[in-house]
Amino acid sequence: MATTRRPLIAGNWKMNLDHLQSIAFVQNLAWALKDKKFNEQEVEVAVFPPFTDLRSVQTLINADDLPLELGAQDLSVHDDGAHTGDVSGVFLEALDCTYVLVGHSERRAVHHEDDDVCVGKVQAALRNNLVPVLCVGETSEDLEKYGASKVPVDQLTAVLTSIDKKADIVVAYEPVWAIGSGQAATPEQAEEVCAALRDTIRSVHGDDAAERTRILYGGSVKSVNIAGFMKRDNIDGALVGGASLDVDEFVAIARFPHHLSVD
Ligand code: PGA
Repeated sequence: MATTRRPLIAGNWKMNLDHLQSIAFVQNLAWALKDKKFNEQEVEVAVFPPFTDLRSVQTLINADDLPLELGAQDLSVHDDGAHTGDVSGVFLEALDCTYVLVGHSERRAVHHEDDDVCVGKVQAALRNNLVPVLCVGETSEDLEKYGASKVPVDQLTAVLTSIDKKADIVVAYEPVWAIGSGQAATPEQAEEVCAALRDTIRSVHGDDAAERTRILYGGSVKSVNIAGFMKRDNIDGALVGGASLDVDEFVAIARFPHHLSVD
């Protein structure tokens, strides 16, 4: 982890917690962070609730000035119009979302979102002042066929070549085989791919973008393995799924600087 990039711990709730549950959860999370003297200057924490929770969570964050950023799990490539069921980046910006996930492997696989769709979504996010968190990663078949880096690098390149080099994005490397499997990549494996992703940013957008862009690791991150990832030069945080639904676990992950001496 390089000192100039502020680490980001992002909780992807997926399709869990309705709006009432989200209020109770965020209150508990805020209390636990306060209780553990969480330092928001040191680490940024973001939550990515389902769309139906965003308004409730935003109200809590704003009213109580909680040390949390808000993100959505997806957005439309369009800003308005006849797109039943889609959610516009305009609406997400109006709800004070800072981030939006794009290209999560569950959307790539189940909703057949290819690189063109991801490019459209990243552009929609940027046009609406949202920071896209672009998820990239290889399946176990890809891993066997091409090794770990090729697919994530290709997915990232497709997006980088379609946006301005000054654009603010976050990249999340999530090997598909590690998501929800309990089988995280090793810190060495993750670092190798994250280094290749940073090299890709450098070659497409130059040194400034490469130094400034945060690259997260995601896939079975827990409080017991976070420190190993955060010690690596090219890993600037984590995208956490299952463990983000457990307040104590998530707070322990966010407090990783306190257990960096543990692998
Ligand atoms: P996981 O999910 O932490 O449950 O593996 C990560 C993700 O899908 O973002």
